[in-house]
Amino acid sequence: MFTLIENQIEEYCEAHTTPETDLLYRLNRETHLKVMNPRMLSGQLQGSFLTFVSKMIKPKHILEIGTYTGYSTLCLAEGLSEDGIIDTIEIDVELEDMIRKYFSQSPLNEKINLIIGDALKLVPEISIDYDLIFIDAEKRHYTDYYKMLLPKVKKSGIMLVDNVLWNEKVVLEVNDKDFDTKEIMEFNDMVQRDNSVRNLLLPFRDGIMMIEKL
Ligand SMILES: C[S@@+](CC[C@H](N)C(=O)[O-])C[C@H]1O[C@@H](n2cnc3c(N)ncnc32)[C@H](O)[C@@H]1O
Repeated sequence: MFTLIENQIEEYCEAHTTPETDLLYRLNRETHLKVMNPRMLSGQLQGSFLTFVSKMIKPKHILEIGTYTGYSTLCLAEGLSEDGIIDTIEIDVELEDMIRKYFSQSPLNEKINLIIGDALKLVPEISIDYDLIFIDAEKRHYTDYYKMLLPKVKKSGIMLVDNVLWNEKVVLEVNDKDFDTKEIMEFNDMVQRDNSVRNLLLPFRDGIMMIEKL
């Protein structure tokens, strides 16, 4: 739950950030009108952040876990190198038509590879080393994703992991049955202990863990 001042700060930041493209605006709007849990969509600020990071890296290969309606995919794709590709995995088959409808309207459509299925089953079959990985899927598997995906990040490659503050629950008293919060806290501790990476927990939106593979 945001306080009044936090809402005002967010609105101020949005007002001083390059606006969404028309395509992203329409996708954002249709997601809010028609899809369950629209708060899951990255939105203008986080989307701009993802675009900035991607443009700075100019990745050849990006992997995204958790497409939802494709907002973050389109933002990440902006930074791909000329011959770059983004693989994005979404488990919910019901979202496929909407995702494809918006991807097909993007000039970057040819660079986007949508894979419908369970990332936990599909990722072990992928033999690509990625320059940039964005993890934004179910929280109870964050440590599994980390163990599975770190070997697939290139040296000096970057992993971004969303929602690591989990609505501030990581600093509040944790209910014994709150498995998502416990898992996210375990994930954050695991990254912090890992000497093979450099990491920054950015307190932006719901918290983004930025990880560089050394
Ligand atoms: C928070 S939403 C992603 C939001 C999106 N990245 C954005 O910023 O607009 C999480 C998505 O992960 C998907 N998901 C959950 N578990 C998954 C899995 N095992 N494999 C692939 N996708 C999964 C959900 O269906 C949901 O659409």
